[in-house]
Amino acid sequence: MLFLSPIAKVTTDLGVLAWDVGLTLFNLVIPKRKEGKVTPAGHPGADGKWPEYIAPKEGDSRCSCPALNAMANHGILPRDGKNITFKELNTTIRATYNFAPSFCFFVPNFAANMLKKKYRKDTFDLADLDLHNGIEHDGSLLRRDVHFEPNQAVIHVPYVKELLESATGKDKDGNPLLTIPDLSRISSKRRAEARAENPEFSLDKFHAMFGSSNSSTLLTIFGGRIRDLETILLEERLPDGWESRIREQNGLTMLNFNLTVSKVEKGIDEKKFAPAAALATEPASPDSVAKPAEEA
Ligand code: HEM
Repeated sequence: MLFLSPIAKVTTDLGVLAWDVGLTLFNLVIPKRKEGKVTPAGHPGADGKWPEYIAPKEGDSRCSCPALNAMANHGILPRDGKNITFKELNTTIRATYNFAPSFCFFVPNFAANMLKKKYRKDTFDLADLDLHNGIEHDGSLLRRDVHFEPNQAVIHVPYVKELLESATGKDKDGNPLLTIPDLSRISSKRRAEARAENPEFSLDKFHAMFGSSNSSTLLTIFGGRIRDLETILLEERLPDGWESRIREQNGLTMLNFNLTVSKVEKGIDEKKFAPAAALATEPASPDSVAKPAEEA
């Protein structure tokens, strides 16, 4: 029994990867969803009509993830953010954001394992997801490190504003767009600052990749559009008329998502933002993620 569990886990992960490759290939040959019709009919948000937004009230459970909080704020997940099944998380993130079914199983299943719960029958509250160095980690773009702010549901507005103001791209109508190099640059700054100011700072390679994965949704699912990101990140609300920018029939697969994530992570160079004193005295840390400067 002791040996079965890790074997079952590896088998599940390999199965999900194979499924993901299949979905990626299938996406190449089937037509994309029509613009304006990305959110499936019958699901909240179909035709751009999101259920009423109600800000969380005292006692509601919220977490460090703006996308999940927004779903609770619209009642797509329970409004109190409590007693959510992992299966429900799977189906709702799929319909709301058009991630591929492989991703929508993989991440909630990872979260269930992280919380030592059973994917098929247990429930969780949103705040449970903030287990430090589970998925939540130091040096993020929207929250102060847990050392300074134990409640990771609290939006750190100056960080969000700085992120939004860092956009250098423009769409065809001249509206601001966040780009891959923008995201690498602001992530470098955030990590360097957090490392310098937080006496308990930690960020291993795994969590650095998790960080770039979370933040890469800003470029993929949200298409880097600053106008939408303002609403989503500052109010944790889905704008009227909003739909996922992923139009592939089977959604954003892990394989395709990884193309963006790896470019963002590769472009991160903390040294560019490290305080001079820290650079002079700090030995290379085994869990640091200083990378050679490379533009994505
Ligand atoms: C599948 C279930 C999901 C879980 C369990 C989850 C969990 C988390 C957690 C724990 C964080 C905090 C990470 C940190 O410390 O920076 C986070 C951040 C984030 N998540 Fe999610 N999330 C999920 C789905 C999504 C989806 C579907 C999207 C986008 C549509 C998304 C977008 C983000 C963004 C933009 C951040 C902020 C990244 C940063 O501050 O650097 N998440 N998520």
